[in-house]
Amino acid sequence: MQKISISLLIFFGLVLSASAEISSPIIGVLTQEVRHNGLIMRHFPNKTSFIAASYVKYLEGGGARVVPIWIGRNRSYYEDLMLKINGVLLPGGSNWFNQSHGYAEAGEHLIQLAVELNDKGTFMPLWGTCLGMELLVYKLAQNKDHRIDCNGKNITLPVEFKEGYRKSRLFASISEDVALAMTTENVTSHWHRFCYTEQDFAKDPLTQIWRVLSLNHDVHGTEFISTIEHIKYPFYGVQFHPEKPQYEFTKPSIPHTAAAIITSQFFADFFVSEARKSNQSFANATEQATRLIYNYKPEYTSILRSIYTQQYLFSNEEMGQESFVN
Ligand SMILES: *[C@@H]1O[C@H](CO)[C@@H](O)[C@H](O)[C@H]1NC(C)=O
Ligand SMILES: *[C@@H]1O[C@H](CO)[C@@H](O)[C@H](O)[C@H]1NC(C)=O
Ligand SMILES: *[C@@H]1O[C@H](CO)[C@@H](O)[C@H](O)[C@H]1NC(C)=O
Ligand SMILES: *[C@@H]1O[C@H](CO)[C@@H](O)[C@H](O)[C@H]1NC(C)=O
Ligand SMILES: *[C@@H]1O[C@H](CO)[C@@H](O)[C@H](O)[C@H]1NC(C)=O
Ligand SMILES: *[C@@H]1O[C@H](CO)[C@@H](O)[C@H](O)[C@H]1NC(C)=O
Ligand SMILES: *[C@@H]1O[C@H](CO)[C@@H](O)[C@H](O)[C@H]1NC(C)=O
Repeated sequence: MQKISISLLIFFGLVLSASAEISSPIIGVLTQEVRHNGLIMRHFPNKTSFIAASYVKYLEGGGARVVPIWIGRNRSYYEDLMLKINGVLLPGGSNWFNQSHGYAEAGEHLIQLAVELNDKGTFMPLWGTCLGMELLVYKLAQNKDHRIDCNGKNITLPVEFKEGYRKSRLFASISEDVALAMTTENVTSHWHRFCYTEQDFAKDPLTQIWRVLSLNHDVHGTEFISTIEHIKYPFYGVQFHPEKPQYEFTKPSIPHTAAAIITSQFFADFFVSEARKSNQSFANATEQATRLIYNYKPEYTSILRSIYTQQYLFSNEEMGQESFVN
């Protein structure tokens, strides 16, 4: 039995490395450090990083599979992985960009490597949600922080498209129905204390790097950027949380209406279809199997009062990170 399954794995490994079209792409989702003395540390003392399960389900719902990307590893780990996956999602969260061995440092490797790959002609899409979008903008602005304080927590908003948004890659294929739902109903879930403004983007000018596709207003009426795409690379950012409407049930402000669901699904479908354009793969099926998120089980953490319904939690040992190397 054991022998049969190993030869099957080898067989699938050969099929896999020969396939040029990736119908179910594999997308890396970056982990992030748990808060010091926070809820996870109190309940799961050995767990040092997490991924909110909603990001995993969101990508799976678009037809992708997920591998966790560990924080705190040296560059060779990210270099190796970035030659094997078909896209990266930088999730939202609440970290400072100055913490060593954490989300921002790992994100910097991933962003730099994605730039290098795309420059070499290898298609490597990146998606940043909320803090992930903030990090993308920050890193591609050479670590200049353009964020302003914003009161964007616990609000649910329609999307205010900018003129010409349909000329973008992201919205080129949007249907009338989905566009109507997005603009006329409260479909996007916002949970952020910072944001970017168009005035500031125009000043630096980040408008040579990013195409601004939509805007929103916080509770004080401050206008902020809610959707961007990179002009040159397949990089995208949203300040809101498209993974929440289907998969998070911890706040009354998270919309679960039909309009919110088709909106979220639009973004998931778009990013997964970008990842399908990549033809990278793991060396063989065994390596792929050991990296997939299926090796881990999410915990039901909202019952412990987490803001996430379920979370994947990882220990240093699981992240292969006995000691930090640089
Ligand atoms: C992947 O695509 C590149 C360029 O599009 C091509 O050169 C390469 O042979 C492809 N690799 C595989 C494994 O299909
Ligand atoms: C946490 O890690 C320590 C040291 O590796 C180990 O002895 C202990 O059993 C672990 N606790 C849990 C709950 O896994
Ligand atoms: C990076 O870490 C791996 C183990 O995780 C190790 O094998 C490798 O030598 C390290 N590389 C460098 C350049 O430190
Ligand atoms: C990181 O930045 C935050 C906010 O500016 C600051 O409060 C914190 O002390 C900084 N931490 C380190 C380790 O520099
Ligand atoms: C969206 O929510 C705001 C307040 O939260 C409300 O004033 C507005 O009417 C809502 N819009 C729609 C289209 O439901
Ligand atoms: C968030 O907004 C909802 C309404 O959408 C409200 O019921 C809830 O009390 C608010 N919570 C906080 C913490 O502001
Ligand atoms: C699969 O690939 C890994 C990484 O390149 C390699 O170490 C391993 O020997 C390969 N396994 C098989 C069965 O080919």
